Amino acid sequence: MNSNLIRAVIMGAPGSGKGTVSARLVKTFNMHHISSGDLLRSNIEQKTELGRIADKYIKEGKLVPDVYITQCILGELDKIRTSSWLLDGFPRTPEQAEDLWQAEKIDTVINLDVPFDVIIDRLKSRWVHLPSGRVYNIGFNDPKVRGVDDITGEPLSQRPDDNPAAVRKRLEIYDACTRPLNEYFRKKGVLVTFSGRTTNEIWPNVKKYFDGKFR
Ligand code: AP5
Ligand code: MG
Repeated sequence: MNSNLIRAVIMGAPGSGKGTVSARLVKTFNMHHISSGDLLRSNIEQKTELGRIADKYIKEGKLVPDVYITQCILGELDKIRTSSWLLDGFPRTPEQAEDLWQAEKIDTVINLDVPFDVIIDRLKSRWVHLPSGRVYNIGFNDPKVRGVDDITGEPLSQRPDDNPAAVRKRLEIYDACTRPLNEYFRKKGVLVTFSGRTTNEIWPNVKKYFDGKFR
C-alpha cells in the first residue's frame, strides 16, 4: 500500500461543520470524501433497501443500526483502496469505532469542538443540494442565486432532520453515544481536537495540521 495515502476521520456534533471542513480538505489534499449521511440520503432518494430502512431513523434524528451502516461504509472503503480518504459521520458508536479500527489503519481523527448554541442557530439556515451533499448557509456561504445550487442550477432544500425536534434529538444522541469516542481515539493516539465558534476560525488550524503531518 502507498504510504503517502491519508486515511482520516472527521468527527463532531451535528452541524459542527464536518461537511464544510471536509469539502475544503478533499479539495486541498486530494482525498475521497465519504459522508455516511450523504450516502444514506442518496439511498433514500434512490429508494434502495438501505434507504427504506434508514429513512425513518434519520427523520427522527436517531442513529441507523450499526449493522447496516458499518457494512455500507466498509464496502465503500473497499472500492477506493488506492486513494486517500476522509470519513465524515462514521464511526458514531463504540461498536462502529471498534469495527473500523480492526478493518483499517487510521492516521488521524479530527474532532471539531463547536458550542451547541452556535450549532442550533446554524442548522436553521442550512440549505443543501441533496444529490451532491453541497452545503450552503444563508449569511455565511450563500449560493450565488438564492435557493439554487451553484454547480448544477438545481433547487436547494432543507433537510427533514434539521427541524428543531430532530436537531435536539441528534445533539442528545451525540452527547450520549458519539462524544465518548473522543476518549477511545485519544487512547489510540490519533485524536486531534480543533475548537472554535466558526469554520473560518477552525479551518486554518486544520490545514496547518494536515500540512505538517502529510506534506
Ligand atoms: P449526517 O449527515 O452525518 O449529519 P450530522 O452528523 O448530524 O451532521 P450534519 O451533516 O448535520 O452537520 P455537519 O457537521 O456536516 O455540518 P455542516 O458542514 O453541514 O447524518 C445524518 C443522519 O444519518 C444521522 O442523524 C443518522 O440518522 C444517520 N447516520 C449518519 N451516519 C451514521 C452512523 N455512522 N451511524 C448511524 N446513523 C448514521 O455545517 C452545518 C451548517 O453550518 C451548514 O449550514 C454550514 O454552511 C454552516 N456553517 C459552517 N461554518 C459556519 C460559519 N462559520 N458560520 C455560519 N455557518 C456556518
Ligand atoms: Mg454533514
